[in-house]
Amino acid sequence: MSRYKTVIVGCGRRGMFHAQGFQANSARFDLVACCDVDPARLADFAARHNIPRTYADAEEMLIQERPDVFCFATLPEVRLSLVELALRHGVRVLAFEKPMATELAEAGRIHALCQAAGAKVVISHQQKYGPHFQRVKEIVDAGEIGEVTKIHATARAWLSQLGTHLMHYMLWFNNFSPVSWISGHAEGTGMLADTHPSADFVFGTMEFANGVRGVIECGAHAPHFVPGDNKLGTLPFWTDSSITIHGTHGYARVVTGNGWQAVTRSSGGEVLSGPGNFDPGYEQPLYIRELAEWLDGSNTSHSCNGDITYHGFEATMALYISSLERRRVRLPLETIPQDSLIERLRANLPPSEEYAGQ
Ligand SMILES: NC(=O)c1ccc[n+]([C@@H]2O[C@H](COP(=O)([O-])OP(=O)(O)OC[C@H]3O[C@@H](n4cnc5c(N)ncnc54)[C@H](O)[C@@H]3O)[C@@H](O)[C@H]2O)c1
Repeated sequence: MSRYKTVIVGCGRRGMFHAQGFQANSARFDLVACCDVDPARLADFAARHNIPRTYADAEEMLIQERPDVFCFATLPEVRLSLVELALRHGVRVLAFEKPMATELAEAGRIHALCQAAGAKVVISHQQKYGPHFQRVKEIVDAGEIGEVTKIHATARAWLSQLGTHLMHYMLWFNNFSPVSWISGHAEGTGMLADTHPSADFVFGTMEFANGVRGVIECGAHAPHFVPGDNKLGTLPFWTDSSITIHGTHGYARVVTGNGWQAVTRSSGGEVLSGPGNFDPGYEQPLYIRELAEWLDGSNTSHSCNGDITYHGFEATMALYISSLERRRVRLPLETIPQDSLIERLRANLPPSEEYAGQ
């Protein structure tokens, strides 16, 4: 078993969870340095996590440290530049945050570069390690709801924030059978200017290669599954997302901020339920442990690997293409559009802020 030399760029809230995840697996990862352009954040982060060396510049850190694992937890506008930098410096393991990019063209470039370099990539869609997600997966995999027919995913937050999580968990519950086609509708321009640029609301229907159907509702008009007055931006707002797996003999649902429910073959019509909530402090170490298993070879892959994540990202972006071009979109795309889908939405959607008044 190896111990992997690890560095982190981005000392914000998500950087903290990544640091905790690596340090919870300290037998496998040696977190030697961190980097941020904000000196106060950097100093505080290093002190809090007892990280020996700090850098204001990611390239300087790569030159000095020559890490095995390059982790970055920056806002979505900073992706391709750090991937290119890390690959140029010989890094072959990259761990970064969702969304994979803000644009499909950029995600396609990241995916192609990492594949060409033979790099291992993981992107953090870690909510599925939560006990309520795991319980629903057990129920589905045990055949307790019969044969899976449809997966319905919802989130109150917008596509670039929660949509990539939703698509990833739809794929995971469906044992990574890929999306064959998708048909979508997008509206609302308020969040196109956000750090996670998105239409305010996206609705879509899709078919997976194994014949299962999927429905996604993401953003301002999605239904509520967490009780209460979940105002935009509060924690209950962020966790008001659900995945319901329908089968021939019942259903099972996980709500990120509100446990799980199921009616199964054996429940006799009774709704079974259990607790569970968003807890990155619990989820992140398990996600990082799976990375160690992949790097060691004791696991052949990671359930958040770059290929899976790119496919999920492509599916979310295909919702925009479908809406803009008023057609069903088959996946994988034969050619990746190189223009900005966000700019096309801005130019084509009637201006309206669907989140206004929430
Ligand atoms: N996986 C999840 O469950 C989850 C939850 C919340 C947020 N996120 C994602 O995490 C990402 C980061 O979110 P956050 O809230 O931690 O952001 P943040 O803005 O708090 O932190 C990002 C940090 O990166 C630093 N930074 C940016 N560019 C840099 C560069 N080139 N070199 C060095 N430092 C740089 C910034 O100064 C900042 O301190 C986002 O993409 C977000 O979508 C994921």
